[in-house]
Amino acid sequence: MTESAIKVRDLCFSWPKGESVFKSCSLDVPKGQFWMLLGTNGSGKSTLLRLLAGLLTPSSGEVQISQPVGFVFQNPDHQLVMPTVGADVAFGLVAENLPQRQVRQRVEEALAAVNLWSLQRRPIYALSGGQKQRVAIAGAIARRCEVLLLDEPTALLDPDSQLDLVKQVQRLVKSQGITALWVTHRLDELNYCDGAFLLEKGQLVDRGDPDRLKQRLMQVEGISS
Ligand SMILES: Nc1ncnc2c1ncn2[C@@H]1O[C@H](COP(=O)(O)OP(=O)(O)OP(=O)(O)O)[C@@H](O)[C@H]1O
Ligand SMILES: [Mg+2]
Repeated sequence: MTESAIKVRDLCFSWPKGESVFKSCSLDVPKGQFWMLLGTNGSGKSTLLRLLAGLLTPSSGEVQISQPVGFVFQNPDHQLVMPTVGADVAFGLVAENLPQRQVRQRVEEALAAVNLWSLQRRPIYALSGGQKQRVAIAGAIARRCEVLLLDEPTALLDPDSQLDLVKQVQRLVKSQGITALWVTHRLDELNYCDGAFLLEKGQLVDRGDPDRLKQRLMQVEGISS
């Protein structure tokens, strides 16, 4: 059996006021694979990612995830905090207390991995949405993240940058052995992943082959449109 980088068993979670989101959710994402998480609005996708990242605590059940974990949000303006590209990636390394030379090397490697090496000194405000998302991903690569969790990273991007980003993450997963879980509503993105989960009201109702899930969801969209 392949090793799991993300392993969830019988996860239960309720909000403090009592609304239950997950009753008994279990899933595995194999190490070194790119999986996607789909589901209607309010089905629990963002909550699940936050539970995986340790930003929320389960009521019961078990979450095992390879550390360190990187998180990429829908809106990069909520994530990037420094004035320039290089400074932002370096900022994520502060806690590691590395020598300056090593910080520089990690920042350069990470920016090269997302094809932004030449923009190290560029102010963040001068970047496109897709470039900002790549800076956020570079931050995770610089920290040597084993797992990348991405919550609708393409929601604010135009169609060209959307497909560039998904291809970039697919390449990174293959070249660096990272494991990625990517939330999306966009069915065309399913062409780039190794597997997908379908969430409905906190229940995983389907999982596996992305082409099959895409067909299933296209039929649903066809009926509802
Ligand atoms: N901070 C919060 N406090 C209480 N309830 C919340 C909170 N955040 C989300 N919820 C509720 O939890 C449920 C799951 O929400 P979640 O944001 O995880 O869904 P989602 O699948 O990410 O939806 P979307 O596609 O709109 O992003 C919803 O019923 C939502 O209203
Ligand atoms: Mg969400």
